[in-house]
Amino acid sequence: MTLEIFRNFSDSQQSQRLPDSQPLLQIQHLRKYFPLPQGIGRALLRKPRRIVHAVDDVSFNIQKGEILALVGESGSGKTTIGMNVLGLQIPTSGKIIFDGCNIAEWAQGRMPCGKGTQIPEKLSSRQQILSLRRRAQMIFQDPYESLNPRQTVFQIVAEPLEIHGLTSSWEEKEDRVRKALEDSGLTPADHFWERYPDGLSGGQRQRVVIAGALVLEPELIVADEPVSMLDVSIRAEFLTLLLNLRHTRGITILYTTHDLATAGFFTDRMAVMYLGRIVEIGPTQEILANPRHPYTRALVSVVPAPNPRRRRERVILEGEVPNPIDLPSGCRFHPRCPFAFADCKVIDPPYAGSGDHLAACLLVKE
Ligand SMILES: Nc1ncnc2c1ncn2[C@@H]1O[C@H](COP(=O)(O)OP(=O)(O)OP(=O)(O)O)[C@@H](O)[C@H]1O
Ligand SMILES: [Mg+2]
Repeated sequence: MTLEIFRNFSDSQQSQRLPDSQPLLQIQHLRKYFPLPQGIGRALLRKPRRIVHAVDDVSFNIQKGEILALVGESGSGKTTIGMNVLGLQIPTSGKIIFDGCNIAEWAQGRMPCGKGTQIPEKLSSRQQILSLRRRAQMIFQDPYESLNPRQTVFQIVAEPLEIHGLTSSWEEKEDRVRKALEDSGLTPADHFWERYPDGLSGGQRQRVVIAGALVLEPELIVADEPVSMLDVSIRAEFLTLLLNLRHTRGITILYTTHDLATAGFFTDRMAVMYLGRIVEIGPTQEILANPRHPYTRALVSVVPAPNPRRRRERVILEGEVPNPIDLPSGCRFHPRCPFAFADCKVIDPPYAGSGDHLAACLLVKE
């Protein structure tokens, strides 16, 4: 699929957008650093401990019912953001607020909340953690690893209900599993639920993974490269399913990918990441039509165009992605930037731009 096809599809979805300006998720100056084990040689030489700056001062909001893409090359920090959003890792600094609650405290079972929360006041630590897991779910990239080969589809999808103690009768459990499977495109559900993952295609497995998340009726799904292991021919079908879930269930989605074209297919806004930072953020179609950061321009230029006569000029980036341990000074993109000038080596660029389309580049004025 090409960018134009994705764009046309996305345009046709505009009228279905859910207008709601309330943020479900607020990420504020998130940093996640991983100190590396100190080798004996470095310890003897008293060298400072090396630190991976996986996510380094990232801020953005997601509105209720919005689909936001986090786009970037391997190692740019996408999965780390997803893990922190779900409380599977605790930030080094900064805050993640989900429906008024600090995720890090919530995920550790320490009653967090201020205003806006829907959590009942007196929950035990375990109940608090379960309540977070119920409302925010992650879908991982590999549908082969995510499913237990010894469980039937029914058992896989019903298991979260049991863990959360959410069904009182067999009929209720069956109804909820049926609905989750059918909303995930496995219709009729009873053709699938006796089967084991081995008997399913990659696309069907990923739908079972979605059903296992949907059965808890979450408000937020973090979909971490959910189509990268799927056949190209079924990617659009799968992303359409995610898009429909937003319409039918009002689910908010954080979609991470290295593939700009799939992000262009179905997301409302896009945040482009480079070495742990967001370098550009804005409405998806606007970024694709008018990328402002040189890194985004390079990414957009290599997405295949459907009409070879209207080929864009390709920008091939020179050099390797720098190491997140020894970050470049100034703008961290400057060693690979074709437009870099002296100031770029010393000034860490602030965000600039107009409205909700911003880029961190000294060349972007407004
Ligand atoms: N537990 C960890 N310990 C040390 N470094 C880590 C850890 N987890 C992630 N990193 C590093 O943090 C950086 C960001 O990793 P992350 O997995 O978030 O990137 P990504 O954008 O999801 O990449 P990919 O597209 O390959 O999935 C990488 O340099 C990675 O090696
Ligand atoms: Mg990743």
